[in-house]
Amino acid sequence: MSQSSEQEIRINEDDFIVSKTDTKGKITYCNRIFMSIAGYSEKELLNQPHNIIRHPDMPRSVFRLLWNTLQEGKEFFGVIKNKTRQNNYYWALANVTPSYDEQGQLIGYYSVRRSPSRKAIEAVTALYQQMLAEEARHSSAQEAMDASHKILDDALKQSGKKYNEFVLSFEK
Ligand SMILES: Cc1cc2nc3c(=O)[nH]c(=O)nc-3n(C[C@H](O)[C@H](O)[C@H](O)COP(=O)(O)O)c2cc1C
Repeated sequence: MSQSSEQEIRINEDDFIVSKTDTKGKITYCNRIFMSIAGYSEKELLNQPHNIIRHPDMPRSVFRLLWNTLQEGKEFFGVIKNKTRQNNYYWALANVTPSYDEQGQLIGYYSVRRSPSRKAIEAVTALYQQMLAEEARHSSAQEAMDASHKILDDALKQSGKKYNEFVLSFEK
């Protein structure tokens, strides 16, 4: 689990955090609010892999779901905990979509994030803790992700929702 000295930073209600990546997930654009909350300059972020803001409390299998969803050409909604340069964190309700050129070729991805509701944060915190603990129990990365994904799948079955519907169900 994360360090207790970490502070939670809240995204302002009216703010949108935007980034774009190439097809590999390297940052090609980010807006001012992204830079200000993450604590990095534009120069430090451009061309960096998006995992520069990855928080260790995030289960790997959530990112596998993100990439699998994008590779199917679909949009992803998720509640994601991100780390700032100062070792603080913020929760984001992220919408990630594939971008295509005029010929229909994939050119990259686009993400818009806003502040999730407290209820959404509470629901995923409990779930992600279980998933993370399960991932830590396996030495094989594949087994860890499969076992963690099963916890997510079981929770979703109980709620009768897909992951995107589940995370959006807490919003007004
Ligand atoms: C458009 C886009 C936005 C992303 N936003 C985030 C983000 O806010 N936080 C994050 O940890 N990963 C984000 N990712 C996923 C990262 O590319 C990466 O898969 C993730 O941080 C896990 O890193 P790892 O595979 O090195 O463990 C994003 C990916 C894309 C394509």
